[in-house]
Amino acid sequence: MRIAILSRAPRAYSTQRLKAAAQQRGHDVRVLDTLRFAIDLSGAEPDLHFRGRPLSDYDAVLPRIGNSITYFGTAVVRQFEQMDVYTPNTANGISNARDKLRATQILSRHNIQMPATAFVRNRVDVRPAIERVGGAPVVIKLLEGTQGIGVILAPEVKVAEAIIETLHSTKQNVLIQRFVAESRGRDIRALVVGDRVVAAMRRTATGDEFRSNVHRGGTVEAVELSPEYEQVAVRSAQIMGLKIAGVDMLMGTDGPLVMEVNSSPGLQGIEEATNLDVAGAIVDFIANQVAFPEIDVRQRLTVSTGYGVAELVVHAAANLVGQTLGESGLWERDITVLTLHRGAQVIPNPRKGVVLEAEDRLLCFGKLEEMRSMIPQRRKRRAKVRKLPKDPIPREPAVGDAADPA
Ligand SMILES: Nc1ncnc2c1ncn2[C@@H]1O[C@H](COP(=O)(O)OP(=O)(O)O)[C@@H](O)[C@H]1O
Ligand SMILES: [Mg+2]
Repeated sequence: MRIAILSRAPRAYSTQRLKAAAQQRGHDVRVLDTLRFAIDLSGAEPDLHFRGRPLSDYDAVLPRIGNSITYFGTAVVRQFEQMDVYTPNTANGISNARDKLRATQILSRHNIQMPATAFVRNRVDVRPAIERVGGAPVVIKLLEGTQGIGVILAPEVKVAEAIIETLHSTKQNVLIQRFVAESRGRDIRALVVGDRVVAAMRRTATGDEFRSNVHRGGTVEAVELSPEYEQVAVRSAQIMGLKIAGVDMLMGTDGPLVMEVNSSPGLQGIEEATNLDVAGAIVDFIANQVAFPEIDVRQRLTVSTGYGVAELVVHAAANLVGQTLGESGLWERDITVLTLHRGAQVIPNPRKGVVLEAEDRLLCFGKLEEMRSMIPQRRKRRAKVRKLPKDPIPREPAVGDAADPA
């Protein structure tokens, strides 16, 4: 295959290893500086230029997008997606993972355990948020930090409040997170490629440091992961929309707690710790997937007016419970069931014989009007527009609604 590595760091260990691994396997590989692309939307089809010249044909790209160029970098990746060039990590996936809050929000609805996290803006909401995640000591994180920079452990609530207030005053958004003390300065980095963990290491913080990042002096050792840790890592990457990811997990009392999912994981630490050819596994995976360029399903399936993708929840009250999918009447209504979610389990292409249970979630494609009628509980009445009150703006400010002192 012909593959381009999108990177601003041709000399970095990871870039060099990926390039060498591709060459060893007989692929035609180039390292292209992400910032030298020009997105061209002037012609009939989406196009790209590189260093001022039309880009030649590629079968696949491997994006290694640094934190400082997320916007432009993901725009380039998205353009490759529009041109049907295979990418293991989508622009969406990279953006989702980059923002620690966004990642946490997305993972939280998929039964992935994470350290208790809160996000607030008003100063009066800070203390209750700290208490909600478990009180001091508490971890404070910048949304887009990396290599441990921007991750602070505040020993007392007062100190935490002061730090958060200071960061807010400089327009920085911060996460407030429970300090997972039981992990004792150690965490797990699992390198996910496709649907498996190809390598994993334990990182241990040194001295009185609580951050285990290699850039903060953390030491690394290879580990054999339990199926539980493997599954959580693979699912987290999958949910984020990443086929290649470094998933960071703390060791909680009840199992893994996902901290973050990295879309451009460094390879040096993990290859040295495990002695495994991670770069080779990545290249082999891409070569196997090239025939399946990433498709933005929603984008492609919602081009026919009136059709779309929706999730139907089988409510206990509805008469669907106990019926098979075949009996449910969905097919007669021109509704195709793509996946069935039951708790943490996902059944792709469910058969007509599957018996529906309460709280099953069916991801469906079909006529939106038909699907709307399948969720009567959620149907909203058209809200009545009321008359404007006599005194639309009260003269006295309401009690407790004082102006924000900040
Ligand atoms: N809630 C937490 N409890 C305990 N340790 C944490 C917590 N969050 C982060 N850490 C430590 O700090 C390190 C960096 O945090 P992380 O969220 O991965 O940010 P970064 O993107 O900078 O790596 C982690 O590898 C872990 O060792
Ligand atoms: Mg990290």
